[in-house]
Amino acid sequence: MIILGIETSCDETGISVVEKYSSNSFKILSNNISSSLNLHAMTGGIIPEVASREQLKYILKVVEKTIYDAFGMSLSDKKIPPIDAIAVTYGPGLIGPLLIGVETARTMSLLWKVPLIPVNHMHGHLLINMVEHADIFLPAIGLVVSGGHTDLLTIDKSHRITPLGGKRDDAAGEAFDKVGRLLSLPYPAGPVISQLAEKGNKNKFDLPRPMIHSGDFDFSFSGLKTSVLNLIRKNNWDFSRDDHKQILYDLCASTQEAIVDVLVKKTMMACEKHSLNTVIMGGGVTANKQLRLALDGELKKINGKLFSPTPSLCTDNGAMIAAAGFFSTAVDWEDVKASPQLYY
Ligand code: KG4
Ligand code: ZN
Repeated sequence: MIILGIETSCDETGISVVEKYSSNSFKILSNNISSSLNLHAMTGGIIPEVASREQLKYILKVVEKTIYDAFGMSLSDKKIPPIDAIAVTYGPGLIGPLLIGVETARTMSLLWKVPLIPVNHMHGHLLINMVEHADIFLPAIGLVVSGGHTDLLTIDKSHRITPLGGKRDDAAGEAFDKVGRLLSLPYPAGPVISQLAEKGNKNKFDLPRPMIHSGDFDFSFSGLKTSVLNLIRKNNWDFSRDDHKQILYDLCASTQEAIVDVLVKKTMMACEKHSLNTVIMGGGVTANKQLRLALDGELKKINGKLFSPTPSLCTDNGAMIAAAGFFSTAVDWEDVKASPQLYY
């Protein structure tokens, strides 16, 4: 079975063709992304109107290239590509970008008479692991950590996903990005903080681990950003000065450590409560090396295993939507509607 995946929930236009050979054997035939990230870096965050216009500008070009990469055919050949279904993100996300992906998918489904599968973006972040790892065993604990989400879940043997808890305020990725802004780092700051942290001392600043002992599976990271802000104000640091550079590195390392600590502690708590020792994770923040190392280390202590996507597939992409499509059901194209507030 071959699925064309379409992801347009935010600033990435991700299109991919994925083939399934058996229940645990898949191949990504093509995968392309056009991103408006550079435009958003100039404004320090995503402007929905700009993201929508960029989606509109690029979506057909990325579909065309992806079909060509997979099958060597052009859309203007007027032939229908040999796909069995189209999977499209219908939520959660920004309404403008979502509508562009959904309308493109609905049109292709109608014209090509190919089934249309609506996919929850968050499911995609987890289920891309099924394409990448043939040896995943379920049930498992799921951890989705991105710019907008920090969620712990269970995934049962039928790939059904049940939320255990989530963010109360800023998501972990948002915390990285907001601290980055305080440190005058470019957006998105997560990867930059992670890189600078390698030169810093993670124990230099004792930053708060919000809700680490709350006993539930919810997260709150807004206090962390406030603590960093207070530190900077109190000490009057100027990170453009060479003699303040080490402080910058130490703040990066300490911030990363605080976020990773909370994520690892709560994930291990979820494993204990549900008597599970497999963790499947996804979302932009799960590209973070320190998070991977720390969680892998804790899971090894209980003979467990961590499954995470290749870093380039942690952030938004079309392959994750095609992947989730294999585990979801097609509906009539008229019934697929963008749903910005969709939960799990
Ligand atoms: O999943 P994603 O591409 O988009 C959303 O759905 O939000 O995640 C983007 C987020 C940004 O907040 C970015 O700073 C963060 O993922 N991120 C990282 C790393 N790479 C991306 N955070 C920490 N370490 C990284 N290596
Ligand atoms: Zn995402």
